[in-house]
Amino acid sequence: MSSKILIIGACGQIGTELTTKLREIHGVTNVIASDINTRNLDLVNSGPFEIIDAKNYNAIKDCCLQNNVKTVYLMAALLSATGEKYPMEAWDLNMNSLFHVLNLAKQKTIDKIFWPSSIAVFGPTTPSENTPQHTICEPTTVYGITKQVGERWCEYYHNKYDVDVRSIRYPGIISYKAMPGGGTTDYAVEIYHEAIKTGKYESFLSENTSLPMMFMEDAIKATTKIMEAPAENLTIRSAYNLSAISFTPKEIFESIKAKMPEFSMSYKPDFRQAIADSWPSSIDDSVARKDWNWQHDYNLKEMTSEMLKQLRKKYNS
Ligand code: SER
Repeated sequence: MSSKILIIGACGQIGTELTTKLREIHGVTNVIASDINTRNLDLVNSGPFEIIDAKNYNAIKDCCLQNNVKTVYLMAALLSATGEKYPMEAWDLNMNSLFHVLNLAKQKTIDKIFWPSSIAVFGPTTPSENTPQHTICEPTTVYGITKQVGERWCEYYHNKYDVDVRSIRYPGIISYKAMPGGGTTDYAVEIYHEAIKTGKYESFLSENTSLPMMFMEDAIKATTKIMEAPAENLTIRSAYNLSAISFTPKEIFESIKAKMPEFSMSYKPDFRQAIADSWPSSIDDSVARKDWNWQHDYNLKEMTSEMLKQLRKKYNS
């Protein structure tokens, strides 16, 4: 049987588009999508799909053994805002799912893992401009703690057990297919939907809060690129800094307003403001650029054009 790829958390914001891309590259039947629910019917019906709870070691293991899965993309996680509401659930899901796949690789059931880290590993004591690859990481969110600890475990499993695990610190990801859920950067997705649907948006972050962001096309490109890179080129086995664009709510508003002059915006910061304030405003990703030739394609203007075009089609307006 040819070796297969398993995506855990395939119905999420990134998983949905990653599944499509990996199926284009490797063939539909070679990529098994899995999630805890079957709500995303388009995805469920687009190829092999299994219901798998990322916390269930035996379910993951059985799927890998039965289908000769050799590569796992672990995309299931509770994000920053949800993690603050349900700290123990975030710890439980984010850590145990990672241990499950790391241990499957340690036992040689699988060969290769992709596990996403995040800008949430940084905290208020991190230099906030052009944050270096190696720097102070004192995260103040549960989500950030799980990602920081996860990075340490990835590096540990690589060094001790020769596990081929690869990771990047995603910034906020902006996309039009599946909605993000429970993140602090989600405002930058909601704003486009509301621009098209209602012509106005109330931001839960204040107008000058600058955060690192990236269009989904670039995030998927980074994910496939790091997985295709020769192992000997990778000097980082915790997680690579990754960057594309940084902008504030005011700047994204202005980029939409340039295309939709009637669009209006108000600001009502909530508990997510403190999370955003603890994260860097821009990231130095020169190590990723050097090790595996990372480069992004989309700037804010291009992303806004594409988001508005696609969402107009979606909402028929
Ligand atoms: N987008 C994520 C969040 O806001 C950051 O990794 O939680």
